[in-house]
Amino acid sequence: MKVMITGGAGFIGSNFILYLHQNYKEYHILNVDKLTYASDLKFLASIEGSDRYSFSKTDITDRAAVRNLIRDFQPDAVIHLAAESHVDNSISGPEPFVMTNVVGTFNLLEECRQFWSEGRRKLSDYRFHHVSTDEVYGSLGESGLFTEETAYAPNSPYSATKASSDFMVRSYHHTYGMNVVTTNCSNNFGPHQHDEKLIPTIVRAALSGAPIPVYGKGENVRDWLYVGDHCTALDLAFHAGRSGETYNVGGRNEWKNIDLVKAICNLMNDLKGGGPQGDYKNLISFVSDRPGHDLRYAIDATKIENELGWQNTKDFTKCLTSTIEWYLARYS
Ligand SMILES: NC(=O)c1ccc[n+]([C@@H]2O[C@H](COP(=O)([O-])OP(=O)(O)OC[C@H]3O[C@@H](n4cnc5c(N)ncnc54)[C@H](O)[C@@H]3O)[C@@H](O)[C@H]2O)c1
Repeated sequence: MKVMITGGAGFIGSNFILYLHQNYKEYHILNVDKLTYASDLKFLASIEGSDRYSFSKTDITDRAAVRNLIRDFQPDAVIHLAAESHVDNSISGPEPFVMTNVVGTFNLLEECRQFWSEGRRKLSDYRFHHVSTDEVYGSLGESGLFTEETAYAPNSPYSATKASSDFMVRSYHHTYGMNVVTTNCSNNFGPHQHDEKLIPTIVRAALSGAPIPVYGKGENVRDWLYVGDHCTALDLAFHAGRSGETYNVGGRNEWKNIDLVKAICNLMNDLKGGGPQGDYKNLISFVSDRPGHDLRYAIDATKIENELGWQNTKDFTKCLTSTIEWYLARYS
């Protein structure tokens, strides 16, 4: 089985490649990544020499490059994680989001379709797994959960481009019979996340005694899932998800931003005994809210739990602690 994984040098992609390499010894994995600022191949150093792993520095917006790569590697399956992923960047400069998330996804779909249609096997014997986000559903009020039936209502350029890519993937199933599956996951945390994201930002600011920025009043709610649990969900959906279906993945673990920031400060107080200013919570500083900031995301994961037997297994506090320790080691 030859599996092409896009975006494998990023946060979730690198965690997932390590997981797949460990658990599927018969797979050959090709990691396709442009190596943007958000990537780091060092995360994959432990498998660099493996004969079951290879890497190609390729920009998925380059159609000819995608075509050549697919024809050289001849994948049986693609798991597509490459994306521009930071909402704030999508507000200050949306164009790379349109290029990578929409055009890049189209390039992969179309080149796979053409190549797989020429093969000896049926198009539906191959697999295209698209990795997406719960942000496509827009914002919830105080109550309710996103299900797979929730209407799409993306509010940021990031979520709008992810929604567009989800629709392209859907159309390749309905129009051409391509064997696709899409997973829409909530906020992940864990090792390998880029410095710009919330949890690394909190740890870095606290360590350097700088203000810990919190948008608005910190009232926004996110459903946090450990990246290792996302990996098991991707595994199940990739191998056993029904073709043409989407599966929501979430932690049933809602946190207001301000409460999460305080919890991290408390963990850091325990681990480091506080900073020069004493309690790290003294550094919390409220900043102007992100434009169009969605109030609340929360996932109903019943479908993947009941149909595929997935469970969010990890202990949140334990995982958050080990994650903080990982960033403390990185930034100290
Ligand atoms: N991080 C989350 O909480 C979260 C939650 C749900 C879904 N997702 C989705 O999961 C996927 C991975 O997210 P992440 O947090 O690991 O992102 P990330 O930003 O950490 O990594 C993205 C990777 O894609 C690569 N990439 C970007 N543009 C590319 C291009 N044009 N060609 C090839 N490679 C390119 C980058 O170099 C990077 O290695 C994304 O599709 C994202 O939408 C993320």
